[in-house]
Amino acid sequence: MSTPAPNTALTQDELKTLVGQAALQFVVRGEIVGVGTGSTVNKFIDALATIKDEIKGAVSSSVASTERLRACGIKVFEAQEVDALSVYIDGADEIDRNGFMIKGGGAALTREKIVAAQSKKFVCIADESKLVETLGAFPLPVEVIPMATARVIRQFDAMGGRAMVRMKDGKPLVTDNGQHIVDVTGLHIKDPLAFELTTSQWPGVVTVGVFAHQKAQVCLLGTASGVKTLTFE
Ligand code: 5RP
Repeated sequence: MSTPAPNTALTQDELKTLVGQAALQFVVRGEIVGVGTGSTVNKFIDALATIKDEIKGAVSSSVASTERLRACGIKVFEAQEVDALSVYIDGADEIDRNGFMIKGGGAALTREKIVAAQSKKFVCIADESKLVETLGAFPLPVEVIPMATARVIRQFDAMGGRAMVRMKDGKPLVTDNGQHIVDVTGLHIKDPLAFELTTSQWPGVVTVGVFAHQKAQVCLLGTASGVKTLTFE
C-alpha cells in the first residue's frame, strides 16, 4: 500500500512528518500506546496530540519523549503499570528487509527495547535513507556499565569493529539509566539474531542496539513517492 506521490521533492524533515502522521492509523483508540524516541517520533507525538482525547495515554521510552508527551497534554504511564501494549511506534537508525534494526542513535535503546518487548506490534517510522541491505553502516550503539567500557571496547575490536565511548560536552554521555554508550563502527551484521544474542551476554553490556528479537512487524517508510508500508510478519 502506498500514498499518492507528492508533487515536489520532500525534505527529510517533511518525510518524517509524513510517517509520523501515517502512524496514527496503528494507534488503537481507547488504549495506551508505546512511544519511542527521536526526531521522527517527535513528529509522531505532535500527530498523537491531535487525537489525545481518543487514547488513554502513552508509555514512553525516554525522559525526552515523556517531556514532549506531557507538554502535548498526553498522560504518561510507567511501563510497570501496564501489562501489554497493542502497539509501539518508534524510529530506527537502520532497518533491513527483515524488519531487523539498529537503534540507539538517541541513546534511548534500553528503554526502547523494554517498551518494544511489552508491545504486540512494533511499527517503525523512518525516511528511506534508513533502509539498508545489511545492518552495520550506522555506528552500533551499545549501552554499557561504565566500569566495563574498556573491556567491551576490546571485545568489539576483536570482532573487527572499532568502538569508542560516546562523548557529550567533553565527557562521556550519561544515559537516562546512568550508564555510558559505546558506538561501534566497521561491523557488517550478517546474522542480527545471533549477534544480538551473543553480545547481549557480555558482562557489563546493558543493551545492544541491534533489535532483532524485538524486530519491527511494520515499517512506514517515507519515500520520494509517498509513504510505503513494509510488513515483515
Ligand atoms: C533513539 C533511537 C531513534 O529511534 C533513532 O536514533 C532514530 O532517530 P531519528 O528519528 O531522530 O532519526 O533509536 O535512541
